[in-house]
Amino acid sequence: MSKTVKGFLMLALAMLVIGIFFGVIGGFQYLFPTWLKEWLPFTKTRPLHVSLVISWIFTAATAGIYYYLPRITGKPLFSEKLARWHLIILLFNTVAIFICYLLGLFGGREYLEFPPLLALPVIIYWALFMINYFMTIRRKLERIPIYIWMWTTGLIFFFITFCEAYLWLIPFFRDNIVRDVTVQWKAMGSMVGSWNMMVYGTGFYVMKKISGNDNVSRSPLTYFFYFLGLMNLLFNWGHHTYIVPAAKWIGTVAYIISMTELVLLGSIILNWRKSLNQARKHFHIISYHFLFAADIWIFLNLCLAICISIPSINYYTHGTHITVAHAMGATIGINTMILLASLYFIAESSTCRTHILLRHKKKIKVGFWITNISLLFFWLSLIGSGIVTAMEKEKGTAFSVMMLKLSTWFHAFAGAGVGIFAGVIVLSIPLFNNIYRNEVK
Ligand code: HEM
Repeated sequence: MSKTVKGFLMLALAMLVIGIFFGVIGGFQYLFPTWLKEWLPFTKTRPLHVSLVISWIFTAATAGIYYYLPRITGKPLFSEKLARWHLIILLFNTVAIFICYLLGLFGGREYLEFPPLLALPVIIYWALFMINYFMTIRRKLERIPIYIWMWTTGLIFFFITFCEAYLWLIPFFRDNIVRDVTVQWKAMGSMVGSWNMMVYGTGFYVMKKISGNDNVSRSPLTYFFYFLGLMNLLFNWGHHTYIVPAAKWIGTVAYIISMTELVLLGSIILNWRKSLNQARKHFHIISYHFLFAADIWIFLNLCLAICISIPSINYYTHGTHITVAHAMGATIGINTMILLASLYFIAESSTCRTHILLRHKKKIKVGFWITNISLLFFWLSLIGSGIVTAMEKEKGTAFSVMMLKLSTWFHAFAGAGVGIFAGVIVLSIPLFNNIYRNEVK
């Protein structure tokens, strides 16, 4: 493992643990809104949490790509130096954003709330990443496997959507509220698609390596699902803009495209038995546990996503905790599970220190179950509180009365959040230990 990959992996794990820590504080602030209000109000904990956990997703996926690429092409990375600069700029920019949020220095838009100047380093390190990536795969491009397609799509679309998310700096977009909100939501919706591509590509690569079977990453069905995912990345953001009075056809196209995900759902159900058999075969491999969990979370989240894409349901659920359940269900259950599979895979396969993982195998299994069971309660409590909010809003219940009715759900949410935090810590310690002690090549 190179020093740079090691740096990316350790940074990713730190982002995950610190990010969840702020999420837990935010969860308790649902219950005690005045807690830490003086110096760490919810308006700071939320962006601290969200930006760190989203950075975890990007950084862990990036670490995987840097680690796997030389193994796929059979040649070293185009430039270790560029990768090192990527890591250094990312590290300093993350610290700068963190300090800005702590000091209450905002200036951006939702999800990218830091001062817009800090977007510049992101564009720079992403450009370095793209140069390195394309120059590395350029050397081996016959019969491109699916994970290369996915990573390529993810890298390009993150660059496009990130730039698009800053179009509001131009008066033509900023001065028209409908245009501004539509473009902003379009950019953020598609950006989710871009990191999904990076994460799913990683999942495919790890699956291929575990099963030792390359057919899945080259079969026509896999490419069909890739194009389905790409179509969703390009168009299904429209379901975020149902409430914006933009052109009607945008919502209609988005709705039809979202429903194509039913095909994906059907395929998951059809493959269910097969994946159970596979699970029995591979369950001794730690990373397989996480892929198996991601499979189940894809199913649960797809059911929820399809429900809330229906305009008449979306009308009630938009802006409630059901949307948060959708966002966290997917980013924890699917993205984080796949990325943990990737990190464990790297740790299991690259090291002469596998004994660290073997020694902690029992603990890792406990951490796995604590995280997933807590996540189930966490997800259900958000859906529960979303349903109560939608019903009470419809009845015109006063805000204070509604908050009282939500109290039980918020308790469950905060408690389950602590469970996820505990589970992730149990999972991260042996992983961090292993990566830290890994030999540098
Ligand atoms: C890997 C773990 C996690 C990931 C990837 C994650 C991701 C996210 C994302 C993407 C959002 C934005 C949702 C939206 O805007 O709709 C969010 C919001 C939030 N998360 Fe997490 N989360 C994680 C764990 C946790 C935990 C353990 C807690 C503890 C209670 C938590 C508490 C919160 C809170 C309070 C919000 C703000 C919701 C609001 O605006 O009302 N998160 N998280």
